[in-house]
Amino acid sequence: MVNHTVRVLAVAAAMLTSTAGVDVTKLGAQTAGNDTRGRTLYVKVGCETCHGPNGQETAAAPRIAGSGRELAAFIAYVRKPLGSMPPQSAQAVSDQVLADIYAFLRAAPAAGGEATKNAPAGRADAGATLYRKVGCYQCHVNEGQGGANGPRIGPDPIPFARFVQYVRSPTGQMPPYTDKVLSNQELADIYAWLQARPRPPAVNTLPPLAP
Ligand code: HEC
Ligand code: HEC
Repeated sequence: MVNHTVRVLAVAAAMLTSTAGVDVTKLGAQTAGNDTRGRTLYVKVGCETCHGPNGQETAAAPRIAGSGRELAAFIAYVRKPLGSMPPQSAQAVSDQVLADIYAFLRAAPAAGGEATKNAPAGRADAGATLYRKVGCYQCHVNEGQGGANGPRIGPDPIPFARFVQYVRSPTGQMPPYTDKVLSNQELADIYAWLQARPRPPAVNTLPPLAP
């Protein structure tokens, strides 16, 4: 009888410890992201292949480290990318996994500063006017916060070199802008203005995600 009880307890204990090794891809998004777990998942899920070791841009994909996007927008983008990025369904990569990856990307070193250093000095006030004049606002919305027709591009725009390259030859649905339409100096002005945009609310002030 005593032996039996011991065995039942042992089985119960084994079941408890096995939940510690549960496949996190099956969990709902009830908790905030864990950046240590996110580092492993970022590689496992394959984001690294295109976005590089710490999300610091590659020739294949833009910088996503320290992204200005909110968590909900980040998840929405990965589920339904606007360009050539392959979409990830909730079955393949859960919201919780994406919350962990997001936490990792937020904590990743913001080495994108290197490219930003090379940006010609921009005048934010001139940038504000140009942003409207050439029509960026039509897709990226008044404050660069993004909307139905284009992603958020401020207040943490991708590195300047990549920014210019993207605007000159976009890889997705965005129309290209040649240097006849918009000089590098004018792009630097828009860039300076985008950098000065208000920051979105911190992740922990957002309502919990729907499961
Ligand atoms: C096959 C290459 C590839 C893979 C794999 C990939 N991405 Fe991307 N990603 C891109 C490209 C290219 C873009 C630029 C826009 C586009 O084409 O969608 C992008 C854009 C993004 C953006 C929007 C950047 C911004 O701020 O506008 C986010 C967020 C993102 N990726 C996250 C992820 C995450 C998270 C993963 C892993 C689940 C991932 N990506 C896997 C290629 C990739
Ligand atoms: C007709 C809509 C449209 C207009 C106008 C537009 N964009 Fe875009 N932009 C997009 C879309 C959609 C994307 C997402 C990728 C793609 O499809 O090219 C994008 C992506 C970008 C990106 C890359 C974001 C990232 O994180 O990789 C930058 C930078 C950008 N736009 C800047 C600009 C600037 C600056 C202007 C004005 C000179 C502008 N866009 C005008 C639709 C637009």
